[in-house]
Parts: sequence; C-alpha cells; structure tokens
Amino acid sequence: MYAFTKLFTALSLLAAVNAFPAADIWGVQRRASTNLTGGSICPTGGFDIMGELPANINDNGGEPLPMPNTSAPVYTTLSVGVQNYTCGDNSQWNAQGGLTYLFDMSCLPQMHHKPFTSFIAAIWDSAPPTVTNQDFEALVEKVNPGVALGLHYWITNPVNASAGINAVWDFSKAERFQNDTNKANAFLVAAETGNVPDPTNPSVNSPWLYEPILYVDGKADGQLATQVYRFNSNGGAAPNTSCTPGAPTLQVKSTLNFWLYGGAWENTIQN
Ligand SMILES: *[C@@H]1O[C@H](CO)[C@@H](O)[C@H](O)[C@H]1NC(C)=O
Ligand SMILES: *[C@@H]1O[C@H](CO)[C@@H](O)[C@H](O)[C@H]1NC(C)=O
Ligand SMILES: *[C@@H]1O[C@H](CO)[C@@H](O)[C@H](O)[C@H]1NC(C)=O
Ligand SMILES: *[C@@H]1O[C@H](CO)[C@@H](O)[C@H](O)[C@H]1NC(C)=O
Ligand SMILES: *[C@@H]1O[C@H](CO)[C@@H](O)[C@H](O)[C@H]1NC(C)=O
Ligand SMILES: *[C@@H]1O[C@H](CO)[C@@H](O)[C@H](O)[C@H]1NC(C)=O
Repeated sequence: MYAFTKLFTALSLLAAVNAFPAADIWGVQRRASTNLTGGSICPTGGFDIMGELPANINDNGGEPLPMPNTSAPVYTTLSVGVQNYTCGDNSQWNAQGGLTYLFDMSCLPQMHHKPFTSFIAAIWDSAPPTVTNQDFEALVEKVNPGVALGLHYWITNPVNASAGINAVWDFSKAERFQNDTNKANAFLVAAETGNVPDPTNPSVNSPWLYEPILYVDGKADGQLATQVYRFNSNGGAAPNTSCTPGAPTLQVKSTLNFWLYGGAWENTIQN
C-alpha cells in the first residue's frame, strides 16, 4: 500500500503542474492550454527529440530510428505498465505485447522528462507484486483526468492475422477528449520499423523504437498520430535466460516515454 500511495502522489505531480498554469515550480514556466478538446495540455512546440536520442543511437545494431517528418511532437507521454512475454518452443521468451497507462508530460520542461520517468520507474518497480495492473488502473482514474491520456496495448495484426501483433495507443476515452468531435479517431495502430538497443542497459531495458502508422487497405489506421517514438526505457526487457515452454505468461514492469508526431491534432501544437 505504501508504494502504491507513493506512486499516486508522484503521478499527481503531473496534475499539479497542470493545475497551476503559470507556475514556476519546475524552474521554467509552462502555460497550460484552455482548449480541452484534444491536444497536449502545455506547449510542445519547443520539444526536440534530438535532446532525447543519443547522437550514436543508431550505431549499436538493430534497425535504425529515422528522424520525425514534422518538427515537434503533438504528445509527449509517460507510459507505466507491463510488457508480457510467453515462452516459445525454442525456450526463449517472446514479446506478447502488454498493457500500459499513458500520462501527459507536456507541462514538464523537456530536461525533466527523463529523470521524472526514472523516478516513476523506481516507485513502480518497488511496488509489491500484490499491486496489480488492475489496481494501477483504479489509481489512474483518480489522477487528474486531464493528465491521464489513455491506454497502450496490442491487437492482432489487422492486415495479416498470422503476422503477429501491432501496438495501439488509444486516447479516445480520455476526459481531455470528452468534447472533441473527432474523439472516436483519437487512436492509432502502428507497425514497427525502427528498433535499436537501449543505450545504457539493453539486458534490462526494452529497445527504443520507431513505429509509423499502419495502413489497412490503403487507409491510415487511426488519426491520433502518424509516427511514434519509444525511448527512455526503464525495465521491460525479457529476462536474459532460457525458459520452459508452456510456462505462464511473464509480466515485466516497464516505464518509458512515447512521443507522438503528426495526425489530426497537429494544429493544436502551441509554442
Ligand atoms: C498483458 O498483461 C496485461 C496485464 O495482465 C493484460 O491485461 C493484457 O491483456 C496482456 N496482453 C497481452 C497481449 O497478452
Ligand atoms: C502473413 O504473415 C505470415 C507470417 O509472417 C506470412 O508467412 C504470410 O506470407 C503473410 N501473408 C500475407 C498475405 O502477407
Ligand atoms: C465538456 O463539456 C461539458 C458541457 O459543456 C463540460 O461540463 C465539461 O467540463 C467539458 N469537458 C471538458 C473535458 O472540457
Ligand atoms: C545474454 O546472456 C548471454 C550469456 O550470458 C550474453 O552473452 C549476452 O550478451 C546477454 N545479452 C544481453 C542483451 O545482455
Ligand atoms: C515520412 O517521410 C518520408 C519521406 O518523405 C515518407 O516516405 C514517409 O511515408 C513519411 N512517414 C510518415 C509516417 O508520414
Ligand atoms: C481546439 O482544438 C480543436 C481540435 O484541434 C481545434 O479545432 C480548435 O480550433 C481549437 N480551438 C481553439 C480555440 O484553439
């Protein structure tokens, strides 16, 4: 219960920045928007992904991360939850998606994103196993609804059911989108074309990804964004050990950032 309360208090910090629109509590003023129909709470026009990706991020193997097509992200999020793994016939852990909760970090200056993410990871990781994802969901509903953006989960590949699973980001039920006439399209299904090892501890932290929107029958699957970056991973990787085929699904705690570019809310970006 103690860790759970700490996690709630920590996440509420995001709500606190939002509640004092012109507050200087992070050393930099971030002014919250009064437009509650989608978009980020605070300006994202000054955020730069180059400040998050080490210059040599593509030099350590994997499939390189390309640069975004637009200059600023529409959403900068904190993701807290689990990544699931099942044991394959080859006795290796295989990624089977997962479930995470997404929070708007736009009211934090960019320099605080990475340390805040690690801070939340330390609390989430120390929560005892009795704190389940369902408990976390109940907690999320109590955090300022404007800060809780929605869910990140996986679905069967909509183009080819034999081709595995695809990631989804879904903000359509977020309170912030409640009065947005386009809220039904506030989601996206993505492919994964960039995948590089975590630059600091790849055996513990999940890879950094570039995930462009998936096209189904020539049509973009969702309007929330067209390009997603996953980085600043804390945990989430499969254990670097062999497993016993048939073992129960393993859930590994994961805390990281997603930045979303493009999409139908791009015109809400403030500077
Ligand atoms: C992953 O685990 C979460 C938490 O138990 C569960 O809700 C979700 O359905 C799982 N996802 C997959 C793709 O198995
Ligand atoms: C669907 O995916 C499977 C597994 O990757 C692949 O073997 C098959 O060729 C794909 N089918 C189509 C129509 O692309
Ligand atoms: C949506 O509109 C209703 C009615 O005007 C209002 O009470 C509510 O606060 C609005 N919600 C948001 C998130 O702006
Ligand atoms: C996994 O373990 C093997 C054997 O101990 C080691 O060679 C390999 O570098 C490890 N992989 C990672 C990603 O740490
Ligand atoms: C980004 O731009 C490249 C080059 O113009 C284009 O091929 C690609 O489809 C674009 N990606 C997205 C997700 O818009
Ligand atoms: C609020 O955002 C919506 C959705 O992008 C946009 O259509 C509308 O013009 C914005 N309103 C204001 C006052 O900025």
